[in-house]
Amino acid sequence: MEKLEQTFFFLLLLLLEFFQLPPAAAVYDVVELGAAADGSADSAPPLLRAWDLACRSPLPAAVHVPVGRFLLSKVTFKGPCRSPVAVKIDGTLVAAASHGGAAASHGGAAASHGGAAASHGGAAAVDPIPERWIVFDGVRGLSITGGTLDGSGAALWACKAARRSCPTGATSLTLSNSEDVVVAGVKSVDSELYHVVVHGCRRVKLQSLQIAAPASSPNTDGVHVQMSTAVTIYGAAIRTGDDCVSVGPGTADLFIERVACGPGHGISIGSLGKTYEEEGVTNVTVTWAVFAGSSNGLRIKSWARPSTGFVKGVFFQHVLMWDVQNPIIVDQNYCPHAVSCPKQDSGVRISEVRFNDIRGSSATPVAVNFNCSRSSRCTDIFLQDVKLTFGDRPAKSSCSHVDGAASGVMSPPSCL
Ligand SMILES: *[C@@H]1O[C@H](CO)[C@@H](O)[C@H](O)[C@H]1NC(C)=O
Ligand SMILES: *[C@@H]1O[C@H](CO)[C@@H](O)[C@H](O)[C@H]1NC(C)=O
Repeated sequence: MEKLEQTFFFLLLLLLEFFQLPPAAAVYDVVELGAAADGSADSAPPLLRAWDLACRSPLPAAVHVPVGRFLLSKVTFKGPCRSPVAVKIDGTLVAAASHGGAAASHGGAAASHGGAAASHGGAAAVDPIPERWIVFDGVRGLSITGGTLDGSGAALWACKAARRSCPTGATSLTLSNSEDVVVAGVKSVDSELYHVVVHGCRRVKLQSLQIAAPASSPNTDGVHVQMSTAVTIYGAAIRTGDDCVSVGPGTADLFIERVACGPGHGISIGSLGKTYEEEGVTNVTVTWAVFAGSSNGLRIKSWARPSTGFVKGVFFQHVLMWDVQNPIIVDQNYCPHAVSCPKQDSGVRISEVRFNDIRGSSATPVAVNFNCSRSSRCTDIFLQDVKLTFGDRPAKSSCSHVDGAASGVMSPPSCL
């Protein structure tokens, strides 16, 4: 009997070995691969090595950045990978602090851009990828969780403020040409330019992001989305010197929920229509957002230039404004410095935009401003339940070249 039991046990072991569960996913730790956790050396080589190992793994694998400060020069993590990759960050990745930071660390490339940096034009940096610090490109199935990205932008901002000839600067985190990406619980501070750019992607979830740069820092947009479909931004606190979220051409099915914005320039669709041939923006929702002390709230903005661009299907709802300049604004007259706007008239067609349940206080007398294009009027613009004051006085509405309707509580009275 005992013998039989032993045989049975032995067979069971054999079976178990045969039908083995997949081994636990491999984790590649950058310190084990030689990264210095005290910021004393560039972590790019060990990080790229960890990425390479994880990316070649036939089973889902992870890159781990443990607690510590890791100096990091410009890096591009390239896909495609054999399986999804998880990047888990407990520490802080720091861009080389020099003026021009990450960009300058790579030889002369940055210097050749000379003074071209559009440092004083608000949201003028339309090209979202001038220089890039951390890039994930061509990856299908990626998660990036935790950690802090410190763009060390102060030196570049100081250079710009002194109006010297400065490097272009770099976007901190770029996701390009990728699919099925989750970025969760990441903190991004002091980027030289944009904090996070999503470009040419599908199905990207940005969750619980914390983004911060001083109100005076130029072009430090929080999240910029362009040429991308099905991007979700859920739960973010964004305090910057430029747009909290900016939406560029070719964006479709963008969903933004529970974002706190300010200081900064608000959530902006645009600037659109700088170039003649341009992809449109469709199906954007912003819901449950709070703006505090920002220089715009919900904005759609286009250059006063001929363009094939358009915005169709936007839904802004359940938004609180605290002391916000231009809480609701469509501005199709954008044309600052040096760019020619021959007829000062935008070709971008804006239609099907709804504002529902927008409340709070405006810091400008005009709280609702539709300043649309003469040649391409805004159409199907709907306001419902808008209650905005200017301090303790009533605010005003202003309408130019706009067709639509209002319903529900309407203060200021609608001009539609
Ligand atoms: C609009 O985008 C949302 C995501 O925000 C998506 O669920 C919905 O299907 C899209 N609507 C259309 C008509 O494509
Ligand atoms: C609309 O735009 C024009 C051109 O930029 C500007 O002069 C005007 O003041 C704007 N109107 C409002 C109410 O902002």
